[in-house]
Amino acid sequence: MIRKSVLLPTACLLLGTASAATPFTTGAPAANAPYRNAALPVDARVNDLLLHMTLDEKIGQMTQAERAAVRDLNDMAVFGIGSVLSGGGSAPADNTPQGWAAMVDAFQAAALRSRLGIPMLYGTDAVHGHNNVPGATLFPHNIGLGASGDPDLARRVGRATAEEMAGTGVRWNFSPCLCVARDVRWGRTYESFGETPALPTALSTIIDGYQGAGGLAQPGAVLATAKHYLGDGGTAFGSSVTEGYLLDQGDTRLSEAELRRVHLPPFRAAVARNVGSVMVSFSGWNGTKLHAHRYLLTDVLKKELGFTGFVVSDWAGVDQIPGGYPAAVRAAINAGIDMVMVPNEYVRFVDTLSAEVRAGRVPMSRIDDAVARILRQKFRLGLFERPMTDASFQRTFGSAGHRALAREAVQKSLVLLRNDGVLPLPPGARVFVAGQSADDVGRQSGGWTLTWQGQNGPVPGGTSLLAGLREVGGGTVTYARAAQPGQARAADVGLVVVGETPYAEGKGDRASLALNAEDTANIRTVCADGPCVVVTVSGRPLILPGTPMNALVAAWLPGSEGAGLADVLYGRAPFTGRLPVSWPRSDDQLPLNADTRPYDPLFPAGFGLTTRP
Ligand code: GLC
Repeated sequence: MIRKSVLLPTACLLLGTASAATPFTTGAPAANAPYRNAALPVDARVNDLLLHMTLDEKIGQMTQAERAAVRDLNDMAVFGIGSVLSGGGSAPADNTPQGWAAMVDAFQAAALRSRLGIPMLYGTDAVHGHNNVPGATLFPHNIGLGASGDPDLARRVGRATAEEMAGTGVRWNFSPCLCVARDVRWGRTYESFGETPALPTALSTIIDGYQGAGGLAQPGAVLATAKHYLGDGGTAFGSSVTEGYLLDQGDTRLSEAELRRVHLPPFRAAVARNVGSVMVSFSGWNGTKLHAHRYLLTDVLKKELGFTGFVVSDWAGVDQIPGGYPAAVRAAINAGIDMVMVPNEYVRFVDTLSAEVRAGRVPMSRIDDAVARILRQKFRLGLFERPMTDASFQRTFGSAGHRALAREAVQKSLVLLRNDGVLPLPPGARVFVAGQSADDVGRQSGGWTLTWQGQNGPVPGGTSLLAGLREVGGGTVTYARAAQPGQARAADVGLVVVGETPYAEGKGDRASLALNAEDTANIRTVCADGPCVVVTVSGRPLILPGTPMNALVAAWLPGSEGAGLADVLYGRAPFTGRLPVSWPRSDDQLPLNADTRPYDPLFPAGFGLTTRP
């Protein structure tokens, strides 16, 4: 019997390409085909659907396109595109939950017009709330959740994020990053829960929050992504070949034993939590790109760890494999990548992979395995039965309940590093506040906020740290971005908030973590006038001036609920956070980790003072 998968329209066979002129709308299977029967076991549905699929329909499922790259909605059916994504900041013109739902449903309706009616899966990075959408609840970035050390909190944050996503039709979250950040000069340090595997492993509970306790088909559940496999946080300083980057997308140079000890445990935990997808790291291991690493992707992740979900590439990660595009596609798919985040030239990808299969350089068994893994998650999600947005979850978007949860997360993320008794502040205290980061929700939210890189300035629905102090404090709170000598003397205490301009990925790679000049001047000026509290709002530890200070608080990147900081500064909630990463004395100590020697940090990982009543 000629397998259906080679029954291509004649035009395609003549042209040798998959660029069929018309959608596969003829020869649709019977309405009662087994794969359409929700009562059957998922694997039975998968196996039946595979039998109906042509090679090009299978390759279509392995293709993920960026929303802005889809030339014509009709392409969804013509190529059977399996997934669409929004990259950081890629939003519909109507950037509201309703606008997102309309956009996603339009892609879905187009996908369902294909011959087999396979629903597409829409994904995005909702890494600290549904951060592309104005008004979403923005939670502390992972480094703050790591400081909380609270697995149940992480799970609840995951659930709230999933609900706000579900109302917009997005059912796949490229989160959590289970990276183990070994060098805090890395621009993605804040996406990590910590510098050793214990915290990312413990807080992988966020996957349960995303995917739901009752299974992926439950309302409000989204597919989670354990990323970036493997060793993304362990690259050597200066090893990146990406223009302008120092560590991100670089090379992790470790023995296999060390790679397994440090970076693998969080992924083992994610697999045990039945994570639906794993995203491959841009980085390499001892000179071989992870995107082409068959041993790690197939032998370790799929066979040894027993991962049954699907592996997705990172953004054009396949293109970074040396040897030309056809060889790169061949290497990536044969290594074990199941879906390719192309994300723009999807016709080129489809044609290239199709040619590689026809030439026998990518076995059909590999294609069938990849497609089976993708379809299995789509059936688990209930997408065939409920492909369109569940708008009922729009009521949770930016809700008071979610904001209260985010405020709790801020409280629990704060780490008290120094305190001579000036904290907690007495109610009604007169406070003078200085620093750009005190009154800027964009700075306190960091990267992946409304845009890929994030930006200074207001964020709809957010409360700045300064507004929070005024809401909670009960006393006079005065503010200047740049303090003048003597200005703090009229207050009982000076509060200097220092930080970073938002960044994401390798654009945040730094050779030095020294504080910027404006913030340094503020510390010196305010602390010269009397009692002073310094608060860092940053994606990582910063190298501070030696100026004596009465208290020092690490607030990380708290997100939209800035009042959570005031709650703890005024003693309404205790300081309970612990450092998820080591705090260096100087740049030349880096990388600096608690499980390596020599180890002489300013503050060790795990350190944190309390003000428990
Ligand atoms: C980015 C990031 C990855 C993200 C993906 C889609 O380059 O490396 O974490 O999920 O592209 O935005």
